[in-house]
Amino acid sequence: MHIIPGTGTRNPLTTQVNDMTQDQLKQAVGQAAADYIRPKLEKDSIIGVGTGSTANCFIDALADLRHDFAGAVASSEASAERLRGHGIEVYDLNQIGQMEFYIDGADEINAQLEMIKGGGAALTREKIVAAVAKTFICVADASKQVTLLGEFPLPVEVIPMARSYVARELVKLGGDPVYRDGVVTDNGNQILDVFNLRIDDPRGLESRINQIVGVVTNGLFAQRPADLLLLGTEQGVQQIQR
Ligand code: A5P
Repeated sequence: MHIIPGTGTRNPLTTQVNDMTQDQLKQAVGQAAADYIRPKLEKDSIIGVGTGSTANCFIDALADLRHDFAGAVASSEASAERLRGHGIEVYDLNQIGQMEFYIDGADEINAQLEMIKGGGAALTREKIVAAVAKTFICVADASKQVTLLGEFPLPVEVIPMARSYVARELVKLGGDPVYRDGVVTDNGNQILDVFNLRIDDPRGLESRINQIVGVVTNGLFAQRPADLLLLGTEQGVQQIQR
């Protein structure tokens, strides 16, 4: 692990280091991710872009680099719209053969860089784009770092007609599923948020939940964890490699 003392010109971490808000930390890691990929970009590069408030900070930082790469693949309609708003071309993943980087936030991340994601209900597309990318860079403020995953309720995307069945199966696994009322994913599905799971085997639980009929995917990113974490702290942006 090492500390990046400053992350570009927009968010100098040397100022206000003792009084940074969570939003400022998110901006700092978004800028740090743009700075990290900048020297590795080529004119035909396609960047995988995640979803959420931290990913939005990355998108905003990416705008300055828009002439240095070809475009992006987005993990949600919301991110696609924000990218287009900055003049960045958005591609369908099916048009893309290879992708060097996927940059996204997390709801929780542990020392193995395994994550819970899906607080913004974009988990399935996030997992798909992350699977294609060679390098997954997680951008997160320090509040997301945990020893044990599971305090944040685990999102599970379900086919609507299977919701009650899946919920009963999740209870058998020891969880307390709660329907995220009124939320429809970009894929037309629903979300169950599972409280009180003890996640001491993230990889195993990820497989077990995905095997329940009617589950599209769950928000454990353990079988494909992040490769690099850019963690925003008051001391600077820490670079933590897997
Ligand atoms: C979106 O579905 C999520 O996976 C987000 O990446 C995650 O919720 C982190 O979001 P924030 O950056 O807004 O905390």
